Amino acid sequence: MIDSPFIYGNTVSSEAFTNRKKEIKKLYNNLIQGINTMIISPRRWGKSSLVEKVVNDINRKNKDHRTIIIDLFSVNTEKDFLETFAREIIKVSSNKWEEWIKNSKVFFKLLIPKMSFGVDPYSDFSLSFEWEELKSHSDEILNLPEVIAKKKNFQFIICLDEFQNIASYPGFLEFEKKMRATWQRQKHVTYCLYGSKRHMMTEIFNNPSKPFYRFGDIILLDKINTKDWIRFIVSGFVKTGKVIEKTDAEIIPKLMKNHPWYVQQLAQYTLNLTGKNATIAEIKKALVEVINANTPFYQKEIETMSPTQLNLLKAVASNEIQFTSTDVMQKYKLGTPRNVLKNKAVLIKNDIVDNTRGSVSFLDPAFEIWFKKQFFNQSYDKQIWNNL
Ligand SMILES: Nc1ncnc2c1ncn2[C@@H]1O[C@H](COP(=O)(O)OP(=O)(O)O)[C@@H](O)[C@H]1O
Ligand SMILES: [Mg+2]
Repeated sequence: MIDSPFIYGNTVSSEAFTNRKKEIKKLYNNLIQGINTMIISPRRWGKSSLVEKVVNDINRKNKDHRTIIIDLFSVNTEKDFLETFAREIIKVSSNKWEEWIKNSKVFFKLLIPKMSFGVDPYSDFSLSFEWEELKSHSDEILNLPEVIAKKKNFQFIICLDEFQNIASYPGFLEFEKKMRATWQRQKHVTYCLYGSKRHMMTEIFNNPSKPFYRFGDIILLDKINTKDWIRFIVSGFVKTGKVIEKTDAEIIPKLMKNHPWYVQQLAQYTLNLTGKNATIAEIKKALVEVINANTPFYQKEIETMSPTQLNLLKAVASNEIQFTSTDVMQKYKLGTPRNVLKNKAVLIKNDIVDNTRGSVSFLDPAFEIWFKKQFFNQSYDKQIWNNL
């Protein structure tokens, strides 16, 4: 059986990865030249995949660099962060676990780590500290990569995924200052910090009054363009012995507004429904399946919104522009102009809508289709197929 050419999971590696040539080159060069780099985009646009790809390239080509990727998605406190950070750095500093113990004694001056090993020491190794002690000497951990890299004569590249998560730690402001102060002095360590909550990431890295301002280069990762998607989809079908015409393949990114995760999902569903030749009929059915499969998430999204937020989203779905005009506020029951501004900020903060392109629009293309059907009873034919 052939592996699916279309993948929409967490990250995609070599096979299902397409394009991003410019971004790969830039990130690769930045990281090996010691330029800290931040990557910002909404979730599922391809940040983690891009970093994984570049890190794999670096591991293959640059023997004097050591790389680490740490996903902070479920690292929820400063203590947890510091212990995870220390453990991962110690792990890549040597490939012998006996040496990890030795190194820990050498590299920690003020802190005393408690180490524990499971049956398989390589996959089951943890490190912990007394919180009081850890708190007063956290810079010892933050500086650990520099100390090890210097001693062992290599360069560290440390990639922290879902970085914005640290902003929710109690005492973040202090910690943020300490991180920046320690990291900016390091000569042997380069950081790649990336995350999905655009609002929070921008606040951390692009606010002149914040410690991480000008910490490095910022890449605003875009979606993947239609031409690349067409090529990718057509060749994906060919790999499985099926056929899709370019003009049909083009419909997939068009419907999903080039959103990487959704394009892969819709392509996969279409492929599964195709006998030999994909036509618009298969894409139509696949779209229904994609939306059905994601409906529970959309429902949940709606449930967390206040009535006036939901109404504002209805106004967005109806292509309204002047949300604070009396007509619009009355028609959609948006409350006061203050409510409108506040709700708009919430929808932006939660990455429901996007206002980076001048106007306010849905960020999730399939959610938008579902929403219009759900709240305005607009069939897919009316929304899409009749206008194609
Ligand atoms: N370069 C790419 N080529 C093809 N598909 C991609 C690419 N980058 C991302 N994707 C699709 O988007 C999905 C989400 O990517 P991911 O890297 O996890 O995004 P993020 O980290 O921004 O949330 C992947 O599973 C894949 O389906
Ligand atoms: Mg990711």
